[in-house]
Amino acid sequence: KILILDFGSQTTQLIGRRLRELNTYCEIIPYNKLPKDLTGVAGIILSGSPHSVYDADAYHITLSDLRGKLPLLGICYGAQSLVHQAGGKVEPCASREYGRAHLTIHHVNDPLMKGLTQGSTVWMSHGDTITELPKGFRIIASTEDVSAAAFRIDGEQTWGVQFHPEAFHSEQGTMLLGNFLSVTGIRGNWSPASFVEHTVQELKEQLGQDKVILALSGGVDSSVTAVLLHKAIGKQLTCIFVDHGLLRKDEFEHVLRDYEHLGLNVIGVNAREKFLTALKGVTDPEEKRKIIGKGFIEVFDEEAKKLKDIKWLGQGTIYPDVIESLSITGTVIKSHHNVGGLPERMNLRLVEPLRLLFKDEVRRVGLEMGMQEHLIKRQPFPGPGLGIRILGEITAEKIEILQNADDIYMSQLRESGLYDEVWQAGAILLPIRSVGVMGDERTYDYTIALRAVTSTDAMSADWARLPYDFLAKVSNEIINKVRGVNRVVYDISSKPPSTIEWE
Ligand code: XMP
Repeated sequence: KILILDFGSQTTQLIGRRLRELNTYCEIIPYNKLPKDLTGVAGIILSGSPHSVYDADAYHITLSDLRGKLPLLGICYGAQSLVHQAGGKVEPCASREYGRAHLTIHHVNDPLMKGLTQGSTVWMSHGDTITELPKGFRIIASTEDVSAAAFRIDGEQTWGVQFHPEAFHSEQGTMLLGNFLSVTGIRGNWSPASFVEHTVQELKEQLGQDKVILALSGGVDSSVTAVLLHKAIGKQLTCIFVDHGLLRKDEFEHVLRDYEHLGLNVIGVNAREKFLTALKGVTDPEEKRKIIGKGFIEVFDEEAKKLKDIKWLGQGTIYPDVIESLSITGTVIKSHHNVGGLPERMNLRLVEPLRLLFKDEVRRVGLEMGMQEHLIKRQPFPGPGLGIRILGEITAEKIEILQNADDIYMSQLRESGLYDEVWQAGAILLPIRSVGVMGDERTYDYTIALRAVTSTDAMSADWARLPYDFLAKVSNEIINKVRGVNRVVYDISSKPPSTIEWE
């Protein structure tokens, strides 16, 4: 495998994604958690960082311990650290360099540069620059403004690049990373089929005759986890699917049917009233999340108690969640709802077969196991559901209004073929009323906001440029068919600084 040492850059995860796109197994670990024993590690990539190498509180490891022992690639801060620690000079740029630049390759035969074209666009984002290279460091490519854009250390398989090959705008960045993988000799050894085979075998050994319980949400991650576990242990797995009343219109029934088709042993629990009562009068988003999370655990716990001899809790944790919880710089913006606290409380052990996969890999694994496309391609939907899309207090009336408006929006997205084009879409019910006119009558009704974003990981997102004609159609249909709504608006904010959800 490849290890990616995280020095806190926002794009560290992207490096991992790119390597996985090249079907190569990698793990991201905090810079200070590098294992002593590197058996099985084919190469190491050093990420960027928000720090400068000369900052007193910069994240450091002793690179001479690694250099020459296995292939190394330093990216941005990683490259600067290689230079700084070997006695070269890194200094602040006059102004931060941010944006596209073009490579002039001096050593076209260098293994890292193989196949890259002269003038290839690369993405720069740095406040410091390398002004003097130590002895034995050789420049292999430059850009307009940066002479040491890429360098290699003589006699070693160590490279540094000032630009970000992992960034989308680096045209041939994935090719460069692929070249590094070729040097390490382990390029392309991962496939969904091999993952399924491996994991099913491991799960069989790990779980034996034990019983496992798992909460299904309707989302891709928990569904794929369930099918994988089912493949390994069949009827020893019991799934629980809770209807908190804040799902999309008819979603509970549809998804339950899908699960039964897959042969899963599922208990569907209708807990709508319980949640509605607990949420009465609550307006604060974080408070809502807490109540929904807690209610969920209570329902789950109650169902689990009815079952005998459960030893394990299955969870659809995926790699970005793992990285986030390991992150050295992570700050909690919104407390995402999950079943945190459950295993301790129920005295269960955790089994998380997807914990090292990215979302697109989870999808590929699901398809490999023959799951239906509409389950696999389902857009992300937050655990607290419509609860955080009804701004302010949640009532039964508002849930119905939002479900109907959202259903129109989602159906139209599907019909027009736009559903797969966006990362996530949904309707939001605003807590204000405004004046309208319908026929001869004055109305004083709610506003629905439509949200649709494009994204690759939900960390950042752009508002989707849905066609005007499409928006017009959705707006008309919502206002005509959903009683209580007389205005529809479209959200044109990106994340950051906005977020995808409104609460
Ligand atoms: P934000 O609003 O933070 O959303 O830009 C990023 C992604 O996370 C989802 N989200 C949640 N998912 N529980 C969840 O399970 C939550 O409380 C929650 N809040 C936001 C959101 O739908 C988007 O995919």
